[in-house]
Amino acid sequence: MEIIRTIDSLVSSLDAVRSQGKSIGLVPTMGALHAGHRSLVERARKENDVVVVSVFVNPTQFNNPTDLSTYPRTEEADCAMLAECGVDFAFVPSVEEIYPEPDTRVFDLGPVAEVMEGAMRPGHFNGVAQIVSKLFGYTMPDRAYFGEKDFQQIAVIRRMVELEGFKLEIVPCPIVRENDGLALSSRNVRLTPEGRAIAPEIRKALEASLSLKRDGMTPVQVAEETTRRINAVAGLETEYFLIVDALTMQPVETWAQAAENGAVGCVTVYCGDVRLIDNIRY
Ligand code: PAF
Repeated sequence: MEIIRTIDSLVSSLDAVRSQGKSIGLVPTMGALHAGHRSLVERARKENDVVVVSVFVNPTQFNNPTDLSTYPRTEEADCAMLAECGVDFAFVPSVEEIYPEPDTRVFDLGPVAEVMEGAMRPGHFNGVAQIVSKLFGYTMPDRAYFGEKDFQQIAVIRRMVELEGFKLEIVPCPIVRENDGLALSSRNVRLTPEGRAIAPEIRKALEASLSLKRDGMTPVQVAEETTRRINAVAGLETEYFLIVDALTMQPVETWAQAAENGAVGCVTVYCGDVRLIDNIRY
């Protein structure tokens, strides 16, 4: 595996790959890699001739400076894992390489970016669109792989791809979980032992919400009851739980409203000062 730190060198390596008619799969990450990332890389490995993984903690998508400064950084272990997975190129640039000057682009991301994470973290999705559009521009991949834990992020990236006219396939990949149901996240390492013990209650509440639906509750009732159950666990505090159309990300009031694209319940929960997100399809 080659570790590449400059855009010029990434672009010229990938030009050579493309000139041989080989396909390119890109897995964008912010490092602190875990088995969830590994599953994306393995999928990319199966489906492409050449796999590129970017490892870059993108400052423009952090609306909270403490979240940015405490974000785990484990470059050496990340590169070891990527080499073991058979990745061809790890792109590990500095902030100065990616943003020699501030990126002032504002993307018209529309309604998919206005709710949930978009409402709670102003500027977050614009920052995601900035970095992902740059990565797509440098690598021009055939396919790009994203985890469904960040369900809304995938809808936002699809919108950015439409706006920018990139010709590539976005490949959503299922959430990978600990045995007790906790969705894998780079932020899990910041949980205290007490927090780690109660965090799986989020998944349990989401699973129980499936039977609330079967019992005849509306999406709004399911969301209220599930929020109540999560908040009943001392140490957990729900920021939002919304049941939305799986494509448009707009909240639904009846199950029929989401009949075409499916409904997904998206939740964000504070476990101490660690913000955990998860979702479930109905
Ligand atoms: O999902 C993430 O890790 C990040 O938002 C991404 C897509 C790598 C962009 O920085």
